[in-house]
Amino acid sequence: MKRVITYGTFDVLHFGHINLLKRARALGDYLIVGCSSEEFNRIKNKKSYYTYEQRKMILEAVRYVDLVIPEDNWEQKRSDIKKYCADIFVMGDDWKGKFDDLKDICEVVYLPRTPDVSSTQTREHINGKLNGSK
Ligand code: CTP
Repeated sequence: MKRVITYGTFDVLHFGHINLLKRARALGDYLIVGCSSEEFNRIKNKKSYYTYEQRKMILEAVRYVDLVIPEDNWEQKRSDIKKYCADIFVMGDDWKGKFDDLKDICEVVYLPRTPDVSSTQTREHINGKLNGSK
C-alpha cells in the first residue's frame, strides 16, 4: 500500500484543490492531508474564511481524502512522514524545490498548479459581490 501526504490551508475549497487532491491520491492508495491550523495560519500571516474544524470537515467529505491531520508549524512535515509512513510527499509546483530536503526519507513530487483559481481570488471575488461590484 502506497501512502501519499500533502499540505495546505484549503480555505473555501475550489476546483484547483480538488484537481491537486485527485492527482495526489492517484499516485498511491491512501491520501493524508495536513491542513493548516489557526495557529499555523497566524505564523504564516494568513487569515482563512473557514475555521480549521470547518476546513477539516469539508476535506473529509472529499472522496480522494482518507485522513486529515492538523499542521501546526513548518517543522512537522518530516516527523509526519515518518509517523504516517508516507511514501510520497506532494505539493503544487508553486512550492517547487522548497521541500527537496525531504527526499532522503520519501519521494517528493510537485504537481502543476491549476491556473486562474486560488482561495485568495475566490474570497476577494465573493467580497466584491457582497459589496455590490460585479
Ligand atoms: N493548488 C493548486 N492549484 C491552485 C491552487 C492551489 O494545485 N489553483 C494547490 C497548492 O499548490 C497546494 C494546495 O493546492 O499544494 C493547497 O493550496 P492552498 O495554499 O491552500 O490554496 P490556494 O488557493 O493557493 O490559497 P491562497 O490563495 O491562500 O494562497
